[in-house]
Amino acid sequence: MFPEDLDLQLHDVLHWIDATRPTRLAVVMDRNTEKHCLPLLTPLLPPHTEFLCMSVVGESVKSIEHALALWTQLDHAGFDRNSALIGLGGGTITDLTAFVASTYLRGIPFWLIPTTLLGMVDAAIGGKTGINLSGGKNRVGTFQTPTGISINPHFLKSLPHRQMAAGCAEHAKHLLISGSNDGLEEALNTLLNQEASAEELGNAILHSVGIKAHYVSEDLTEQNGIRKNLEFWPHRGSRA
Ligand SMILES: NC(=O)c1ccc[n+]([C@@H]2O[C@H](COP(=O)([O-])OP(=O)(O)OC[C@H]3O[C@@H](n4cnc5c(N)ncnc54)[C@H](O)[C@@H]3O)[C@@H](O)[C@H]2O)c1
Repeated sequence: MFPEDLDLQLHDVLHWIDATRPTRLAVVMDRNTEKHCLPLLTPLLPPHTEFLCMSVVGESVKSIEHALALWTQLDHAGFDRNSALIGLGGGTITDLTAFVASTYLRGIPFWLIPTTLLGMVDAAIGGKTGINLSGGKNRVGTFQTPTGISINPHFLKSLPHRQMAAGCAEHAKHLLISGSNDGLEEALNTLLNQEASAEELGNAILHSVGIKAHYVSEDLTEQNGIRKNLEFWPHRGSRA
């Protein structure tokens, strides 16, 4: 399903690390991305890299307790303004990593590597960071764009079907918003096709990213209402 040369896009991370030589570097992940995704990334990382695996998986990781745990670990490890974070995971991990990086020492560089389809087409794109508060989603957060984002369809190989379907829904939303209805069925067939090539998956994902990026670039911090067009679904009392 996935050709061997697919990790090429992760070389951007390597170039960034080589160019900036962060004083400390840590990868934030959960146990699923540690198991399924980290092995592809590890060979590219410098030897002093720290690995911070969160103790929970899913929405509950986006909490002040887990943000505090990360801030504390960075502090104890001597992270300074020239240190950096990499978020390796679905939207929950990239939201948390981006929030922690954008607030620690008033902001340190961070790079996002989304590993779910939803993360690739939506959560990692657009510069919104966030954690939840008292049951309310994304009640605390910042607008902060990452230094870079690496999207590698290889990670989708281990993603459960249910998570692929969730990403497909976001992809469909983007196509409908942009009026690309004609390509919708074909795009969804590609994303759900076990035999799809990495190039086909990559093209579908990049199409979605381009649509979101268009609205975000016109209204990064939600000042003029253009970004609200991305809220296609009926309002459910929460903000993405
Ligand atoms: N910042 C934004 O603009 C934005 C936009 C949309 C959504 N979001 C946020 O995204 C979050 C949802 O993200 P999600 O759907 O990716 O959920 P998630 O991060 O919980 O990931 C879903 C599950 O898949 C696992 N997983 C991740 N990558 C895997 C892989 N490659 N192989 C196997 N398992 C893997 C995770 O461990 C988790 O169990 C929500 O918190 C939402 O608020 C943010």
